[in-house]
Amino acid sequence: MSQKQQQLDEFFDFLRFPSISTDSAHKDDVDRCADYLIEKFGSMGLEASKYATPGHPIVIAKSAPKADRPTVLIYGHYDVQPIDPIEGWATPPFEPTLIDDKIFCRGATDNKGQHFSHILGVEETLKQHGELPVNVIFLLEGEEEIGSPNLAPFLEQNRDLLAADICAVSDTGMLAPGVPTMTYGLRGISCLEFTLHGPKGDLHSGVYGGAVANPALMVSRLVAKLHDETGRVLIPHFYDDVIPLADWEREMWASLPDGDASTMAETGVSALWGEQGYTALEQRWARPTAEVNGIGGGYQGEGSKTVIPRSAMAKLSFRLVPDQDPAAIARHAKEFLESQCPEGCRIDVEIGHDGPAYVMDPHSQHGKAAQAALEKTFGSAPRLIREGGSIPIIQAIHDILGIDSLLLGLALPDCQIHAPNENFYLENFYGGIRLNQALLEELGSA
Ligand code: BES
Ligand code: ZN
Repeated sequence: MSQKQQQLDEFFDFLRFPSISTDSAHKDDVDRCADYLIEKFGSMGLEASKYATPGHPIVIAKSAPKADRPTVLIYGHYDVQPIDPIEGWATPPFEPTLIDDKIFCRGATDNKGQHFSHILGVEETLKQHGELPVNVIFLLEGEEEIGSPNLAPFLEQNRDLLAADICAVSDTGMLAPGVPTMTYGLRGISCLEFTLHGPKGDLHSGVYGGAVANPALMVSRLVAKLHDETGRVLIPHFYDDVIPLADWEREMWASLPDGDASTMAETGVSALWGEQGYTALEQRWARPTAEVNGIGGGYQGEGSKTVIPRSAMAKLSFRLVPDQDPAAIARHAKEFLESQCPEGCRIDVEIGHDGPAYVMDPHSQHGKAAQAALEKTFGSAPRLIREGGSIPIIQAIHDILGIDSLLLGLALPDCQIHAPNENFYLENFYGGIRLNQALLEELGSA
């Protein structure tokens, strides 16, 4: 069997674990997936350990440390998102399927494919040279998709174990196939959920409609108060700590292929929406938002049912930029929602998980090494972008371990992460292996 085929087979085995972190029915699958990694690292000669947490385990693997070289922490997450809506999948979600040049499977891009490439890159370098140009520590968690609740405490308690000079992460986007992309910023996040309680029970909407506040209607009205007509968020103090976009960033992004057009093409919408005065890329990468991720209440079944539901709810999340404080934003949002609670209803606001935004200097010594590795691997100078998605632990890695993270993403715009038919571009699987080899080499001599 060719080496490439063997690498692909191993990747497929890894993908078959339905390691859905949010669903307790999959707890054992998440655990078995961690065991698979332990075994893989062991076979490469790395010292691997599984650390139990109150949730899912953390996997650590280390190369034999050599005093004369820098240490690189490689972070990734082996947990995946749920598969619903299941009817949207063209192939079984946990049976990796190669169609043309893409591997379809939940987790293929987010994040198994992206960090498995790093693992295989290290394996290949060890096979070729018997040693690595740097010391490597893999840190792979099983809870990223649920907000990494146990990882920051683990970092706090294991500073020595995890001591490194720089962190490398492939869990972000790549602008287009073959276009090397370095992400130097991520948005943060703050989540909450609120419920409006109205009458003491469901009511006949003919008998009582018109005289009693309908919680489903009131949730819509409340949600509609989050923005003004120009897309600005109306929560008091929401923008207080926002660092405005720098001119050099706006200029740099303006030179990328038309982001408004690509945003429309990627999403299939007929018009863009959002805060005026910003391009789509600026809105997505560097401006804060208030989003509704779910809204519900009342009858959802077939046909009609004339009811005023006793309660209705919405799940909100806010994407944040430097220097917004996630806890403060959640507090301001809670106060705003409570202050706007319609008469005749009672509101319950439950604050969820959060994480701050992250930004680093792409021209630092390590940043330059990462850019050189990207150029070597993909053959052109990397584009420098920020991303709209969040990896909350990246700021914690900075604050607790005192190191920056190099975000070298391999996720293409049509990779469908978090959605049915998630896929990973085969070229990026092999490209990721080469990227890891080039990166460790550059960092070794930086
Ligand atoms: N890999 C993504 C984050 C991402 C996606 C960054 C695309 C840049 C581009 C990550 O797995 C993710 O989905 N994060 C969640 C975090 C949340 C659950 C705390 C997110 O952004 O919604
Ligand atoms: Zn994700």
